[in-house]
Amino acid sequence: MRHLLSAADLDAAGTTSLLDLGEEMALVQGRPVKKLPALRGRTIVNLFFEDSTRTRSSFELAGKWLSADVINISAKGSSVSKGESLRDTVLTVASMGVDAMVVRHMASGAPLQAARWFADLGLGVHVVNAGDGTHEHPTQALLDAFTLRRHFRAQEDGRPEDPQAPFAGRRIAVVGDITHSRVARSNVLLLATLGAQVVLVAPPTLLPAGVDGWPVEVRDDLDAVLGEVDAVMMLRVQRERMSGGYFPTPREYTVGYGLTRARLGLLRPGAAICHPGPMNRGLEISADAADSAGSLILDQVAAGVAVRMSVLYQLLGGADESGALR
Ligand code: CP
Repeated sequence: MRHLLSAADLDAAGTTSLLDLGEEMALVQGRPVKKLPALRGRTIVNLFFEDSTRTRSSFELAGKWLSADVINISAKGSSVSKGESLRDTVLTVASMGVDAMVVRHMASGAPLQAARWFADLGLGVHVVNAGDGTHEHPTQALLDAFTLRRHFRAQEDGRPEDPQAPFAGRRIAVVGDITHSRVARSNVLLLATLGAQVVLVAPPTLLPAGVDGWPVEVRDDLDAVLGEVDAVMMLRVQRERMSGGYFPTPREYTVGYGLTRARLGLLRPGAAICHPGPMNRGLEISADAADSAGSLILDQVAAGVAVRMSVLYQLLGGADESGALR
């Protein structure tokens, strides 16, 4: 793997080996001394043009726990605020001799563009997409798969796991603002790769053009779907990306598509509740749901570090083709 730009870059075997490696990384995460020497001497730059809590801090911890040198650059406080272009910024940073660049940008395609500029100039910098506009967030999909795989394995429902399709027979609802969600796009791709049936649940105004061609079922009645799924992934309503009236009022959105306390009773026993964060409590998810026994939201956050360690390790030469540690 040269870069990780899209969940489409990963096949089932590659995903499984990243998740398996993530399990080994999670053991390090649980130790009092969280350090592996694997990436000693390697340099990683986290280049964030858009705000982040989870992704930026987990990539920083992941790099540091693998002994890489890690620096963080935000648009605010960098020469971007003086008008420096994306191209000049990424090439400036790359020219310092970095090994990997983790890029978050408000424009869809920015990490891919950076990877192309590096290739044009013969720079061997690995690029990781840490969320680009409404396009993709592949490491979020990986950490969601990691979290759900653990959850499904812990369920004693006797279903054997097919290594080629570990989520075969699993039905997962992705609910809410699909239009603006890079998390939804990456999850649809990765969950389909892993063999899951994905059900998108949203008002028609929050479904993107072209969704008919996605490997999903589309529904608009959340109450009817909740009893049919093994997991429900609630999406943040991205009001900062909305210019028009996608729904009449926040209250009406919650009535139709929020995971309210009343709706918790419609879920199957053992169904998982996920949210990529940050949450709008009281809008797409109630505090009762977010803090319920079925909520995996903090497990997702913890998985973010282990999975990002796995991705960095694989990209920067710490693992062989099978993903085995060496
Ligand atoms: N899920 C996610 O990408 O969160 P942050 O914006 O806090 O990184």
